[in-house]
Amino acid sequence: MTPASEPILFNDLAAAYQEHKSALDAATLRVLESGWYILGQEVRDFESAFAAYVHVGGCVGVNSGTDALLLALRALHIGPGDEVITVAHTAVATVAAIVLAGATPVLVDVDPITFTIHPAAAAAAVTKRTRAILPVHLYGHPADLAALGAIAQAHGLALIEDCAQAHGATFQGQRVGSWGDAGCFSFYPTKNLGALGDGGAVVANDDALLQELRSQREYGWTPAQRYVSQAQGMNSRLDELQAALLSVKLAHLDAENARRMEIARHYTALLGGLGDQLIPPVVRAGCTHVFHLYVVRTPRRDHVLAALKAQGIGAAIHYPVPIHQQPGYRDAVVTHDLAHTEALAAEILSLPIHPWLRDDQVARVAAALLAALR
Ligand SMILES: Cc1ncc(COP(=O)(O)O)c(C=O)c1O
Repeated sequence: MTPASEPILFNDLAAAYQEHKSALDAATLRVLESGWYILGQEVRDFESAFAAYVHVGGCVGVNSGTDALLLALRALHIGPGDEVITVAHTAVATVAAIVLAGATPVLVDVDPITFTIHPAAAAAAVTKRTRAILPVHLYGHPADLAALGAIAQAHGLALIEDCAQAHGATFQGQRVGSWGDAGCFSFYPTKNLGALGDGGAVVANDDALLQELRSQREYGWTPAQRYVSQAQGMNSRLDELQAALLSVKLAHLDAENARRMEIARHYTALLGGLGDQLIPPVVRAGCTHVFHLYVVRTPRRDHVLAALKAQGIGAAIHYPVPIHQQPGYRDAVVTHDLAHTEALAAEILSLPIHPWLRDDQVARVAAALLAALR
C-alpha cells in the first residue's frame, strides 16, 4: 500500500506499544514475577509519581475514570438530595457517575468557543441543593477554572474536575486536577496517558479526603484494620500491572502531548480561512490544550464524515447525542438552556490525532476534508 492510499487510523494503540515495547515488557515481567498483583509497591510508586506530575498532595489509583468521579463524589459526601452542576456535552461517564452517587446532575450549556462549561451558566444554575460544580476539560482544553473556582467559593461548593481527557493540560500555568477539591482521571487505553486496560485516579491536596478515598476504594476499610468496614465502600482498586505500565508511560506524557500539539498546529494551519464553513479548535490565552481530540466544527459534518470514511480516514463524533437526549439518562437529569450544546452536536467532527500520526498523514486528512467542502 502506498502512503497515499493506506488507511489512516483514528488512534494507534499498537504503535504506542511498539514505541515503548522493551520498557513495557520489562514492567510486565517484573509484576508477573513479583507474586503481588493488587495495591502494592507499583501502585504506590505510580501514585507518588502522578501526584508529583500534577503538583498535588496525593493520588489514589482506582479502577476507571468513572469510578474516580464516583469515589470523589462519595468521599465528599455528595449523594441523594444533592445537585451537581455539569455539562450535557461530555462523555456519558461524567453524568453516569453523578447518578451512581445518587445525586442529581444539573446540566448547563458550554462556551461555544472552548466547548467547556460556561461559568455564567453554572453560576445561574446554583440552588440551595447544589453541592458541587463538575467541569470537564473536554478534548484536552481546560475549563475556566479561575471563574469556576470563584463561583464555588462564593457558594460554598466543591469543585470536582473531570480530567479524563486532559492529562498534563494547564490553566494559568497550573496543571488541571490541581485546581479543584478533587481531580479525576481516566487511564482508558486511548487517553493521553493510557493503561493497557481500565484504570483511573483521583488526585487531591486534602489529607483527610485522600484517606477517605483510599478507604472508599476498598470496602470502607482503614489502614489500621482490614476486613472491618468503618464506612460503606466498594472495590475500585488499580492493579499492579496497570500501575507499572502507567509509570513507564508517564515518563513520556509531556513529549507525547507536545507531538499532539504540533499535529494540532499543522491541522489548524492547513484548515484555517474557511469562516463558518470550517472552524478549527481554539486555544484560549493562558491555557495549554493537550489535544486528546482535535475537533473541528462544520455545518456539513455528515457529508465530510462520509467523505473521509470513503477514503479510509478514521474520523468520529464526540459526542453525537447530548446526555439530556439519551434514553438512559434523560429522566435522571435537570436541564437548563442547552442551545450551544444542541447546535454543536450536529456540527462537530473529530479528526485523527495521536503521537504516531505522521505529517504526511495530517496533510492527507486536511486535503480530504478541504476537498469534501469544495
Ligand atoms: C470526559 C470523560 N469523563 C469520564 C470518563 C470515564 O473514564 P473511564 O472510561 O475510564 O471510566 C471518560 C472516558 O471514557 C471521559 O472521556
